[in-house]
Amino acid sequence: QILILDFGSQYTQLIARRVRELNVYCEIHPYNHIPPITDDIKGVILSGSPCSVREEGAPDVDLSLFRGKVPLLGVCYGAQLMAQKLGGSVVPSKIREYGRAKLSKVDSHFPLLKEITLHSQVWMSHSDTIAEVPANFDIISSTPSVNVAAFKIHDENTYGIQFHPEVTHSTEGKTLLRNFVVHICGCSQDWTSDIFIESTIEDLKKKLGNDKVVLGLSGGVDSSVAAVLIHKAIGKNLHCIFVDNGLLRKNEYEDVLASYQGMGLNVKGVDAKQRFYDALAGLEEPEAKRKAIGKVFIDVFDAESHRIEDVKWLGQGTIYPDVIESVSVKGPSATIKSHHNVGGLPDFMKLKVVEPLNTLFKDEVRNVGRTLGISENILGRHPFPGPGLAIRILGDITPEKVAILQEVDSIFINGLKSAGLYNQVWQAGAILLPVNSVGVMGDERTYEKVVALRAVTSVDGMTADWCHLPYEFLGDISNEIINKVKGVNRVVYDISSKPPATIEWE
Ligand code: XMP
Repeated sequence: QILILDFGSQYTQLIARRVRELNVYCEIHPYNHIPPITDDIKGVILSGSPCSVREEGAPDVDLSLFRGKVPLLGVCYGAQLMAQKLGGSVVPSKIREYGRAKLSKVDSHFPLLKEITLHSQVWMSHSDTIAEVPANFDIISSTPSVNVAAFKIHDENTYGIQFHPEVTHSTEGKTLLRNFVVHICGCSQDWTSDIFIESTIEDLKKKLGNDKVVLGLSGGVDSSVAAVLIHKAIGKNLHCIFVDNGLLRKNEYEDVLASYQGMGLNVKGVDAKQRFYDALAGLEEPEAKRKAIGKVFIDVFDAESHRIEDVKWLGQGTIYPDVIESVSVKGPSATIKSHHNVGGLPDFMKLKVVEPLNTLFKDEVRNVGRTLGISENILGRHPFPGPGLAIRILGDITPEKVAILQEVDSIFINGLKSAGLYNQVWQAGAILLPVNSVGVMGDERTYEKVVALRAVTSVDGMTADWCHLPYEFLGDISNEIINKVKGVNRVVYDISSKPPATIEWE
């Protein structure tokens, strides 16, 4: 595997993704919590950083831990740190370099730059620059404004690069990373879904033995893939719980439960609708609704898990970005942030946690799911919030309002599917507004509810843009909703981006 030491750059996760795309396993660790350099570490990459090596107390690392022992690649800050520590000098750039640059010198006979072309576009993002390098450094690439765009240390497989090969704007960045990881470090490209599944099942068997595991299914990708993997390892000793909180989409509880049972999972459906409605009665404030839902869920889940005699483990669908997030480097000092998914174990459930997906990115989880034969219906689902329709019914929740919104949502989502638009949208749903408006149906005046439709494009939900759905499509959906759903006489479309709006309305 490749070890990536994180100095806090916004791009560190991208380095890991690119390495994984080469079918090579890698892990990110904070620069100040370095794991032992064992034989299976074939190379080390030092990431960028928002800090400057010239600052007092800037993140530092003892290079002798790995330098000369395994190939080493410093990216941006990582390269500057090596240059400075080994006797070169780093100074503020005369011109701040952000954005595209073209390589004006490329010594492509060095293995790192094999097949990298002259004038290749690279992405720069730095305000310091390496002014001088020690005598045993070769400068192997430059741009018109950065003399030391890449260096190699004589007689060592130690390299530094000033630009960011991990971002797609560095058009040959992937070739450079392949050169390092495959040709210089000698990693075999055998990190595939099949290998992951095989080795994970072996590990789970060893770890869990004859123990029982309880796992809460949500209908989403992560918990489903985690469940199928654990099930492959321990069969009926995995007890899955799927709770109907009365806030799911139309027919979702029945459909998803049936598909879990179809996969052979030992799953118990728990109809707790009324408990959730009782706890929500009269609550209007979004955070109060979220808290009430969270509390009932924990109570229901806890009661159900107590019914499983001798259960020892809690299975969770935590994925790698959650883990990195919880142990991330923030500036010069590494801080450990608590994250809701990591160790998110209520105190009263004294169970050990098993998280088979905690080294995978989302797209890798989907690939593993596909290899395991999980249906596209589950793998390709839009994200759906834990509190479900409760945060899409503005104001207080009643079963009648839930029923109206389920109908509207179902027309919209099925419409997207039949128009072939579902997969172009990252997330979609409908919102029931606490507003009545006047309409006319036949000869009668109506005074009924307004619903808003929301569909967004996004990569990770952190930022999002509204989808430019075809007017024809929106017109048809609006007609269908108003004609079929009693109690709704007006449909509007949300054209706000995030930021400044959010995806959900509450
Ligand atoms: P926002 O509204 O913050 O949503 O732009 C970003 C993503 O998070 C989902 N979301 C939630 N998911 N519990 C969840 O499990 C919540 O309370 C919650 N609130 C928002 C939202 O659906 C979107 O995918």
